Amino acid sequence: MAVTPPYELKLLYSREQIAAVVTDLSARISRDFEGRDLLVIGVLKGSFIFLSDLVRELSIPVEIDFIGTSSYGNATTSSGHIRITAEPTSSLAGRHILIVEDIVDTGLCIEAIVEYLSKRDPASVSVCTLMNKPARHQVPVEIAYTGFTIPDKFVVGYGLDFSQRYRHLPEIFTLEEKTDAGQLASDD
Ligand code: PRP
Ligand code: MN
Ligand code: MG
Repeated sequence: MAVTPPYELKLLYSREQIAAVVTDLSARISRDFEGRDLLVIGVLKGSFIFLSDLVRELSIPVEIDFIGTSSYGNATTSSGHIRITAEPTSSLAGRHILIVEDIVDTGLCIEAIVEYLSKRDPASVSVCTLMNKPARHQVPVEIAYTGFTIPDKFVVGYGLDFSQRYRHLPEIFTLEEKTDAGQLASDD
């Protein structure tokens, strides 16, 4: 798989590491929501692989819906402007809602989604994110379920993109600027 210079991918989490975290999160969610009417809402597009793996390990019945937002455009930094691009079609009033995100970065996206859902009279709204980047938060966010707490690096794979690329990769990589040393090392 080609990586456009001057970037290179470095493995951050393997399939096995991701699977172990997903299993743990699923078990916790199953325990916490047992006997409740749970609606899982995945945030498009980045959460689609995480959500698929997460719900298949739940031991409780759930309904699944999606919400679409856009914050990054085609850059590696947030524009700070959140748009809801697709609304859930499920009834939200009285439901226990679990928002599923691939990553919380500035927190602006999840803040906008929590605000949107909270206005629809749900029984509760909780957040589950595979990755959290606390160093980048611009607003306070309450996250009930976190997979990995990660440093301030741009990550791709397992649903996450850079300019819509790399979402299909089964592992998680950091996207790093290629150094001269890196270029020499990859010449062999
Ligand atoms: C990314 C990511 C989260 C959000 C996090 O989505 O998937 O949804 O940004 O950033 P924030 O905490 O700074 O708001 P993106 O807008 O890139 O859309 P995508 O999921 O379609 O890639
Ligand atoms: Mn997203
Ligand atoms: Mg993105």
